[in-house]
Amino acid sequence: MVRAAGKSETDKGNTMHDDLRAAVDEIFPRIRAELEALVRIPSVSADGFDAANVRRSAEATLELLQRTGLDGVRLLEVDGAHPAVFGELQVDAEAPTILLYAHHDVQPPGDESQWESSPFEPAERDGRLYGRGASDDKAGIAVHVAAVSAHGAAPPVNVKVFVEGEEEIGSVHLPDFLAEYGDLLAADVIVVADAANWRAGTPALTTTLRGIVELDVEVQTLEHGVHSGIFGGAFPDALMVLSRLLASLHADDGSVAVEGLVEGDAEALDLTEEELRGQAGAVPGVELIGRGTLTGRTWARPAISILKIEAPGMDPPINQLLPLARAKVSVRLAPGDDTARAMRAVQEHLESHVPWGARVMVTPGAAGAPFALETSGPGYDAFRRAFAETWARPSVEIGIGGSIPFVASFAAAFPRADILLTAVGDPGSRIHGPNESQDLNDLKNACLAEAVALRLLADAALR
Ligand code: BES
Ligand code: MN
Repeated sequence: MVRAAGKSETDKGNTMHDDLRAAVDEIFPRIRAELEALVRIPSVSADGFDAANVRRSAEATLELLQRTGLDGVRLLEVDGAHPAVFGELQVDAEAPTILLYAHHDVQPPGDESQWESSPFEPAERDGRLYGRGASDDKAGIAVHVAAVSAHGAAPPVNVKVFVEGEEEIGSVHLPDFLAEYGDLLAADVIVVADAANWRAGTPALTTTLRGIVELDVEVQTLEHGVHSGIFGGAFPDALMVLSRLLASLHADDGSVAVEGLVEGDAEALDLTEEELRGQAGAVPGVELIGRGTLTGRTWARPAISILKIEAPGMDPPINQLLPLARAKVSVRLAPGDDTARAMRAVQEHLESHVPWGARVMVTPGAAGAPFALETSGPGYDAFRRAFAETWARPSVEIGIGGSIPFVASFAAAFPRADILLTAVGDPGSRIHGPNESQDLNDLKNACLAEAVALRLLADAALR
């Protein structure tokens, strides 16, 4: 059994973890270099991008886990899925087992001209590391590696590391991974390092996630394009029909107008409208939409966005009535909502709000369940304390408006496990946008906090 002798029995306050702080200080340059190496691999999991890059990042992660000293390091594969990576350290059959989760796939970079430095060439500016995945979620991989390394690859608890390769496309094969590798992944505590801190410098534990459902909607008004002067005024074009249909999804105050979606609320916390505007990059004059507290709007109420529209671009147009137009509608669901019921509600709304008798076809797409976590237990005790010690300020409990469909699947598969959502990035990290970045101080603190939490979990198990 490996346990840091003499560190466990007594509580000596902060000094108790000075060895871990020193270890993290020493390994951090290497951890950061490892993160940069991962960012250089454009592991975009979305359709239409080269899947070989996701495999390359899986292999790079595999080699990193091997270098870190984990045992049983391997790719986990199921048919048709991007590979996941696994490694473990079994130190004591009596000690708790902690599963450390992150994902190595990333969102597409989007318009590269919007990036100040190239998305897959990591660059430091003002204490932040820029690059696609530098925060979401390759920073999560770096934190898990650092937490294990800080213990000299001999942590005081059993550790499993699981790095998924398709979180950004909704963890579509997770049920297959769980069916195939459920025993391998079983744990007492699951640490998902993929949420966000409250702000840079203020650690957070995330307690609720929104869900998501997506739908494709197609409207048709004519069998074919026709002269807009000959027939305009008598028949609608498809784009005007689609515009009205999409407009029907929101009330005049911008709140969601679809009936039957769950709406909740959230504590306001110390977030001001000004700060939220700054984080979002809202242009002056644009009004907030929706109702309730600012946090409630983004964490506890549904939201609908139009992700794409298929219609002619801005090339010289043809004067014709467009016969066909399409859009993808993305709906964020409040904690407590049900994906199947919500999908039906949105589908029925779309089918019953098409103006002027146009033909409409709604195709339900991906879905991910919302989740509210059980926020007590030894895992929570350990991380709350580790955060408070590391940042020298208490952590905040927050919701996030984003989705991590993985969490509901894992909670169903391992109903007795404590699940924690920790973070590396912050609301200024611009995940999914151009110029994604990670605060390097928060990265280092996240490494130390996780190392400390592993020790506290071992201590808790002794009591
Ligand atoms: N890391 C994010 C989740 C997140 C969102 C954390 C906001 C903190 C703040 C995660 O990788 C993500 O983006 N998930 C996708 C899931 C989708 C593809 C089903 C999302 O929310 O869009
Ligand atoms: Mn993401």
